[in-house]
Amino acid sequence: MKVEVKLGDVRENNSEVLVLFSYEDLDFMQGVAKMAKDARFKGEKNETKLVHPPSAFKCKHILLTGLGKREKATSYDVYVAAGRAAQEACSEEFKTLAFNLPETVGTKIENTARQVCEGAMTALYKFDQFKSKKKDKESEDEFKEDEKEIETIEILCPFEADGERMKREVEEARIISECVHVTRDLVNYPSNLKRPPMLADRIKQHVSRHGIRFGVLDENAMKRKGMGSLLAVASGSGSPPRLVTLEYGKKREGKPPLCLVGKGIKFDSGGISLKPSKGMDEMKGDMAGAAAVAGAMMAISQLKIPLHVVGVMPLTENMPDGNAQRPGDIVKAMNGKSIEVLNTDAEGRMVLADAVAYAEETYKPDYLVDIATLTGAVVVCLGKHATGLLSNDDALKKQVIEAGEKVHERCWELPFWKEYRDMVKSKVADVKNIGSESGEGGTITAGAFVASFLNEKTKWAHLDIAGTSFSEGGKPFGHVGATGVGVRLFVELARSMSGENV
Ligand code: BES
Ligand code: MN
Ligand code: ZN
Repeated sequence: MKVEVKLGDVRENNSEVLVLFSYEDLDFMQGVAKMAKDARFKGEKNETKLVHPPSAFKCKHILLTGLGKREKATSYDVYVAAGRAAQEACSEEFKTLAFNLPETVGTKIENTARQVCEGAMTALYKFDQFKSKKKDKESEDEFKEDEKEIETIEILCPFEADGERMKREVEEARIISECVHVTRDLVNYPSNLKRPPMLADRIKQHVSRHGIRFGVLDENAMKRKGMGSLLAVASGSGSPPRLVTLEYGKKREGKPPLCLVGKGIKFDSGGISLKPSKGMDEMKGDMAGAAAVAGAMMAISQLKIPLHVVGVMPLTENMPDGNAQRPGDIVKAMNGKSIEVLNTDAEGRMVLADAVAYAEETYKPDYLVDIATLTGAVVVCLGKHATGLLSNDDALKKQVIEAGEKVHERCWELPFWKEYRDMVKSKVADVKNIGSESGEGGTITAGAFVASFLNEKTKWAHLDIAGTSFSEGGKPFGHVGATGVGVRLFVELARSMSGENV
């Protein structure tokens, strides 16, 4: 998909569809207001109406798109409306689409351009690579591409604007959206086709062009390191585990890196503590944390954000098998801590235990953020509209929350008091992998377990994306499947840590 920025008179634009945004005040340019009125367009949020353009316009169709009340509209409203309009244009099988940028109270026009581009591109995502393509009518034996795709997006600016800055913003939006697509693809991909070695190779292919140093530990290397916790989870799987590391940027004197650690369970059956079968297919997406880290690393490197960033991804799966770990087992993580396994379905925190300990020992980061589809409890607590957040550092917490607000990947903090941290102490080992049989405070105790494998001085934040990484459709774009949550947030976080202003 090509994205272009054009300044000048929108009436001259000759795309198949021209999107004209409008608020409820219907304050349109000359000639359009009557047309909107005749079409009974009200300018309500996400309302769209396809109409024939007045004669002064060179485009084939106009798609009127509502933004609601002018005073209330946020940049996120523009993002969503652009997405809706793009989907509408795509379903009408148009190929070229132009957006006339709206004025938004309190948002710079260059930023609005970015919202429109990101909204349209992320809304146009499709996961259809496993569908057989439609047969070409003329030649029976040849398969032709299913051609329902937008090829060009044009961003038109009718106002005074810094053209160069706008082009830069739009190009960044394009890069970020493509990385979100990579993350979604990785999560949506079926588990049978993403065994850890294959997944590691796929990540390697994705990052190789972008100046990222790729590293991988295989099972033997994990054994040498003493990663008994990760290996215990992996022991029930028919395919061997991998631990992938991605490093971008330089080590700087006195500036240790930001470390991102993502849970990469490519299928979570629960293991011997088997899950019920309903909805179990969704557990192919239990590597959404690792996928978000991979996508974010790709974006951060392409945007050349001046920061040393490291991604760590433990990749394996959780299966019941003759070699699988059992409830009651005691295993040892690489930092020497012993773990009483009381429920094999609490596997995410066990792979993270070794991954965060490895990240800390290897990279000595100032900041470590882990991201994981960790607990069903976070979905009970926050539903699907917020990522659960735990942290031991106020400044880091604030940066994470603000980054999330900026890209509408909102995080909500839960308490991290000693009482909760005490809940993962075991009678027979150093820690146990569940806080209690009843599951009370489950999201917090899961995080407390992970934190117990880190030095207290490491500034840590923990993102539980079990509710936000996968969507059953509906708002805002109606996609079923992976959301790609975390990518846009990490890009903003890296930017704010680098001191680069946005
Ligand atoms: N991967 C699951 C958490 C999950 C649940 C992700 C729903 C996405 C949607 C995790 O490994 C898990 O099974 N957690 C258990 C923990 C429990 C056994 C303490 C859970 O939440 O039930
Ligand atoms: Mn589990
Ligand atoms: Zn899991």
